[in-house]
Amino acid sequence: MTFEEAKKVLAEHDQEQLLKYYNELSEEEQKTLLNQIASIDFSVLELCKHKEEAAGKGKIAPLAAMQLPEIESRKEEFTKIGVDALKAGKVGAVLLAGGMGTRLGSDNPKGMYNIGLTKEVYIFERLIENMMDVVNQTGAWIPLFIMTSDKNSETTIAFLEEKNFFGYNKDYVTFFKQEMAPACDYNGKIYLEEKGKISTSPNGNGGWFLSMIRCGVLDKVKSFGVEWLNIFAVDNVLQRIADPVFVGATIATGSSVGAKVVKKAAPDEKVGVMCLEDGRPSIVEYYELTDELMNAKDANGEPAYNFGVILNYLFNLQDLENIVKKSMPLHIVEKKIPYLDENGNPVKPETPNGYKFETLVLDMIHLADSCLPFEVIRNKEFAPIKNKTGIDSVESARALCAENGIKL
Ligand code: UTP
Repeated sequence: MTFEEAKKVLAEHDQEQLLKYYNELSEEEQKTLLNQIASIDFSVLELCKHKEEAAGKGKIAPLAAMQLPEIESRKEEFTKIGVDALKAGKVGAVLLAGGMGTRLGSDNPKGMYNIGLTKEVYIFERLIENMMDVVNQTGAWIPLFIMTSDKNSETTIAFLEEKNFFGYNKDYVTFFKQEMAPACDYNGKIYLEEKGKISTSPNGNGGWFLSMIRCGVLDKVKSFGVEWLNIFAVDNVLQRIADPVFVGATIATGSSVGAKVVKKAAPDEKVGVMCLEDGRPSIVEYYELTDELMNAKDANGEPAYNFGVILNYLFNLQDLENIVKKSMPLHIVEKKIPYLDENGNPVKPETPNGYKFETLVLDMIHLADSCLPFEVIRNKEFAPIKNKTGIDSVESARALCAENGIKL
């Protein structure tokens, strides 16, 4: 894209501020900026104008979860199916590690956070230890795909290489990068992060499969013979990954997707709950849960919307290829966005100062034909680290690790 072309496109979208420092840049920097402008999808900014008309939900109905007693009684059957699939190399794992982890407030990628007390225990290390349990049980390495973003890719890769992948076989580890989306102020004006660099942030965790395709990683997935992908968040240090019982249950029930869920701690707990929306599987976020839904009971007198998702899903690969052909809703999120002030000085704001745009993995569930909510024991499998202290924090995760006999 030439300077004149960039000027024209920016004028059309009322974003000429992005060229304010163009003349101060070196030739190389100018080229980089023009390339960045050429890659921006300006249509996302339209969302700022009608933010209040957030996508409405359809008709919500309960979706029964497979609960612990049933799982226990069919454990042998599920384990066999799962172990067979794993041994045949049919299950891959996708670690979503492209997020910014702003709430934790560390400058490094979240997986590099050390939660150890008497020794170093990194979040990545905990996750790999959990995967190793399954590798040892089945005798087969699980292909692991790690999604990073422009903001943390180099640091993540360098760290894992330096740590020798915490003992994981690196022939089975593949990195890929997610895409970035522009970040703007409350009036929809895109920020500059540097004089020759537009403020961008990772485009949410919903684009992982599309990014896999765009980065050419899907071919590698297929070359391993993978038929199922278990995606999981970086921050739950207790989660079981490629859990044979879960894999077996998802396959045995002929589901497109399996979703690990936990029983809610309280009716108003801030987790998304599984449901049916217009007859299709879906997740209703805690802020969308009306009092009526919160208090609704199923046929057994139990709360009807009682199982929260923990961002651990098993997707059938063939079905995924159809899911990504459908369009996903875009979410607008208030965030702290580094920017240049009027005098061109960089500012790292303490409070939110604008919007970023994301697609979310939970919206993929609604695009799937069927989903099995699969209950797991909360205190054994759910220790998310979002904050330093308080709820879902380093502190609470440490306590849960101790409860499970994990030495930190
Ligand atoms: P969160 O929604 O907790 O976001 O991500 P975050 O960026 O890690 O943290 P905050 O909100 O800034 O504090 C849930 C999972 O999705 C991944 C994260 O890395 C985490 O594993 N994620 C999130 C991505 O991979 N890419 C994204 O763009 C956003």
